[in-house]
Amino acid sequence: MCEVITIANQKGGVGKTTTAVNLAASLATSEKRVLLIDFDPQANATTTFGIRRNEVQADIYHVLGGTKNISQAIIQLKDLEYLHIVPSSIGLAGFEKDFYKKNNGQTILRNKIEDIKDEYDFIIIDSPPALGALTVNALVASNSVIVPIQCEFYALEGLAQLLNTVKVIKDTSNPNIVIRGFLPTMYVGQHNLSRQVLEDLSQHFGDKLFPDSKKKGEYIIVPRNVRLAESPSFGKPILFYDAKSSGSVAYQNLAEFILKGA
Ligand SMILES: Nc1ncnc2c1ncn2[C@@H]1O[C@H](COP(=O)(O)OP(=O)(O)OP(=O)(O)O)[C@@H](O)[C@H]1O
Ligand SMILES: [Mg+2]
Repeated sequence: MCEVITIANQKGGVGKTTTAVNLAASLATSEKRVLLIDFDPQANATTTFGIRRNEVQADIYHVLGGTKNISQAIIQLKDLEYLHIVPSSIGLAGFEKDFYKKNNGQTILRNKIEDIKDEYDFIIIDSPPALGALTVNALVASNSVIVPIQCEFYALEGLAQLLNTVKVIKDTSNPNIVIRGFLPTMYVGQHNLSRQVLEDLSQHFGDKLFPDSKKKGEYIIVPRNVRLAESPSFGKPILFYDAKSSGSVAYQNLAEFILKGA
């Protein structure tokens, strides 16, 4: 059965795209069939794979609008047999105005992926930094959510709002959705602030952190790692840029954990 996972946090720049891309790539290298849907008009996940606008026949906006079907928008990556991607473009910014306000606006994405779900073990959705129409559509289409949390000041601000949105969706259109977990990102062990955020998270949401199978009693955290920030400019996920870097290892651990529960 396919698990649809949205990577969500309405705060900007917390590591959503980095998590979506690298979790998707790590799952795909374990020979799981993965579809990554770029659901952000910024199209950062699309660019991370070096996909250029002029190479794209159709993107997620065309699929949502019904002018293309989803299989026409799926791109097969050359180096990663098991990973497919549905690209995005700035046009997706018109989603709310163009489609969402019509009937059943919340279920548009869910309906579009229904046809191809059986072809994948995982569908990973990268969402934009807002709790608007796009994120709601992604959550309604998903079995679970992963929330990257940047280990910085204000890290937990807005979290209650996100959790409440998930709850409302659970109570209304998607009763099976679960929060897979919170993923601390850009952690710097030498910084008091990073340690404090991690401590707060483990105190209040310990059951929502991912246990690290390699370090007993510890959680999976993504360290601040320059290799992670560099890899998109090479058009590659971290696994194909620097597989042994601390950032890559963190995402491989996360994929391993997700696979155990799959
Ligand atoms: N663990 C990390 N270490 C170092 N740099 C990171 C790490 N995670 C993400 N980055 C960098 O931080 C920036 C923001 O990350 P990313 O784009 O993944 O966040 P986002 O939540 O998707 O942002 P947005 O809200 O704009 O979509 C990027 O430049 C990315 O390369
Ligand atoms: Mg992003």
